[in-house]
Amino acid sequence: MQQGKFITFEGIDGAGKTTQIDALEHWLEKQGIEVVRTREPGGTPLGEKIRAMLLADDMSVTAETLLFFASRAEHIERVVVPALERGAWVLSDRFTDATYAYQVGGKNYDPAKVEALESLVQGALQPFKTVLFDLSPDIAAQRLAKARAADRFEAESREFFRRVREAYLDRAQRCARRFFILDASLEPQAITDALLQEAQSWI
Ligand code: TYD
Repeated sequence: MQQGKFITFEGIDGAGKTTQIDALEHWLEKQGIEVVRTREPGGTPLGEKIRAMLLADDMSVTAETLLFFASRAEHIERVVVPALERGAWVLSDRFTDATYAYQVGGKNYDPAKVEALESLVQGALQPFKTVLFDLSPDIAAQRLAKARAADRFEAESREFFRRVREAYLDRAQRCARRFFILDASLEPQAITDALLQEAQSWI
C-alpha cells in the first residue's frame, strides 16, 4: 500500500488555521482519501495532558522545549507513523517548525539544541508539505482579542509575535520546497481557494 502524506500547518496565533484545515480535510475526504486530523501539543491522551501544562504553567524554556518534544514523541509513535503506514494522510495543526519559530525565534533558545531533539525524536520523519499562514501580528492580535481569553503563549507581546513570524518566514525560505505560504490576511474563501488549488498538486 502507498504511504500516506504528512501535512503540517503553522503560523502565529490568530492566523485562522482551523477553518482552513477543516476545508482541506473535507476536500481530501471527497477525493476518497482517509484523513487523520491531529494537533501539537496534544494529539494523544498523554500529549493533551502535556498541552494543558504547557499552556497554563510558567516554566523555563528548556523545560518547555522538552515538553513539546515529549508530546511530539508520543504523537509520532502512536498517531502519525501508524496512520501514514496504513495510507492515511495526517493533517497536523503545528509540528516542529513551531518549536523553531516560538522557542528559537520568539524566546532565543539555541537552535542546535532543537536540532538535536528533532533528530532524536523524529529520525528522518519530516512533513511532506507545510502550510504557513502568514499574518502580521497586528491583525492577529485584533482577531484574538475578539475570539477568546489568551493562553500563556497568546498573551506574549506584539514584538514576540514579530520574531515568531520572522522565524517562520526564515524557515520557509530555507525549506522552500516543503513550505507553501498563504497570505492569512485575505478573506477566508480566498485562502481556501488558494489552499485547495495547491493541494491538487499533492495527490
Ligand atoms: P495551538 O494549538 O495552535 O493553540 P490554540 O489551539 O490556542 O490556537 O498551539 C498552542 C501554543 O503552543 C501556540 O501558542 C504555539 C505554541 N507552540 C510552541 O510554542 N512550540 C511548539 O513546538 C508548538 C507545537 C506550539
